[in-house]
Formats: sequence, C-alpha cells, structure tokens
Amino acid sequence: MIELKSVGEIDAMREAGRVVAAVHGAVRERAAVGVSLKQLDEVARTVIEEARAGASFLGYHPSFGAMPYPGVICTSVNGVMLHGLPSPYRLRDGDLVSIDCAAYVDGWHADGTVSFVVGQPREEDLKLIKVAEETLAAGIEAAVPGGRMGDIGHAMSTVGRGAGYGMQNDFGGHGIGRAMHESPFVPNEATRGRGLRLRPGLVIAIEPSLMAGGGDEYVMDSDGWSVCSADGSRSVHVEHTVAVTEDGPVILTLP
Ligand code: MF3
Ligand code: CO
Repeated sequence: MIELKSVGEIDAMREAGRVVAAVHGAVRERAAVGVSLKQLDEVARTVIEEARAGASFLGYHPSFGAMPYPGVICTSVNGVMLHGLPSPYRLRDGDLVSIDCAAYVDGWHADGTVSFVVGQPREEDLKLIKVAEETLAAGIEAAVPGGRMGDIGHAMSTVGRGAGYGMQNDFGGHGIGRAMHESPFVPNEATRGRGLRLRPGLVIAIEPSLMAGGGDEYVMDSDGWSVCSADGSRSVHVEHTVAVTEDGPVILTLP
C-alpha cells in the first residue's frame, strides 16, 4: 500500500531530513586522509544522538544484507557503490566517498546520500560526482503531480547513461515515511509515461548510482553488505528524500 502524507507529516519528515543533512555536513568536514570509516560512523552517531533522533540503519536487516546493519551510515569508497560498511579502513588521498544516512524524528524517517573526494581529487571523479548530482536533480524535477513514476527513472537514465556511465536497477529508491523503506519502488531507470501516477503527498527517496566503467554489472563483497562495480571502476551514489506537492517537488534532506 502507498501511504500519502499530509502537509503536517511532510513537515515532520523535514525535521528528520535536517538531521540527515547535519550528518552529511559533519562527516564531510571530518573526512580526511588517515581518518577511518569507523570514525566517520562515530561522528554520525554523535550528530544523531545530539539531535535526539534515531538512526534508521542501525540493526536494520533487509534480505540483501548478510547480517543486521552494524553502523548508522554507509561509507562506500571508490569501487564500492552502495552499503559500504564503516570498517577500520583509513581514507587515502583521492578516495571517492559516498555517505548514506537515514534518521528518524518522532517516528518519521528521512534518507539521503552525498558523495565527495578526500584530499587531492582526480578530474574524472569530480565529473562522475557532478553527473550523479545532475542525474538526481533530473529525477527530482520529474517528481511532479500528474507525472508517472517512469518519468523519474527515464530522466535519470537519460543523464547518467547519456554521459556514458553504467547504472543498475536492483537497488533504487523507495517510499519513505513511518518506515525507511515503504512502497513504491523508485527505479533508477524506467520508461517515460509508465508506472504509478505521482500525487501530492507521495514521499520518496530518489537514489541513483553510477559506475564510471560504463558497465551495469555489480558484485556483492564477501563482507555481506558492500555492493561493488563488477569491473572495479569507481562509482558514486547520491540521494534525497523528496515530497511530491501541489507546488512541485520539495527536497526534505537539506540543512
Ligand atoms: N539508502 C539506502 C537504501 O535505501 C540505504 C540502505 S542501507 C541499510 O537502500 F543499512 F539500511 F540497509
Ligand atoms: Co534510500
């Protein structure tokens, strides 16, 4: 079932979205050469705790994870595309990092991901991030009342694939609200004009991921969580929680 949210409920979700954005800001500030992914997770825990919010990922155990999730953020570095575990790995110069976080306030969840480079960036990594952000922006722009779910995936794949990058469609976006993962599924790639009719009150996480090598294949790491590009190429993930409103799409995961 798809639950539409009232204006008041969307406001409540924005509070959770602010916490997610605060985590992104704090983690990004702390991320530097020599800092471990575990330390970044600790930074995120502190921000969530101080905001008196809850960590949606901690202990979450979906079918695609080998065990309950042990952290509050996903830390996906270089060839890891999604769900990278906050391990003792220490960041190196030029690492390409995606930080995925979801938090809840008063029982309402928000979910978002940012990507950035630590230290001296490679030109091609900055381009990958830029195109991923443009891909997400195109998806958000299509999240308007009267549109269709397929318009979102079509807009995103047009940008991402148009730039020559690979995309996968098994891990996409999702409805979000009282639970982090709700119906409907939000494909990264779809046919324009097809799928669910978008209505005011629909709140979804839109989360495209791109693989620099141009292939669409991914592999699960032996850690049971990390989803990696099959060709080992660098990958990027970005995400916002977005409300479809009468006035158009509203991003809830901003500071
Ligand atoms: N943003 C990701 C998603 O919606 C985060 C899942 S990580 C998990 O699938 F730890 F919660 F599983
Ligand atoms: Co998500």
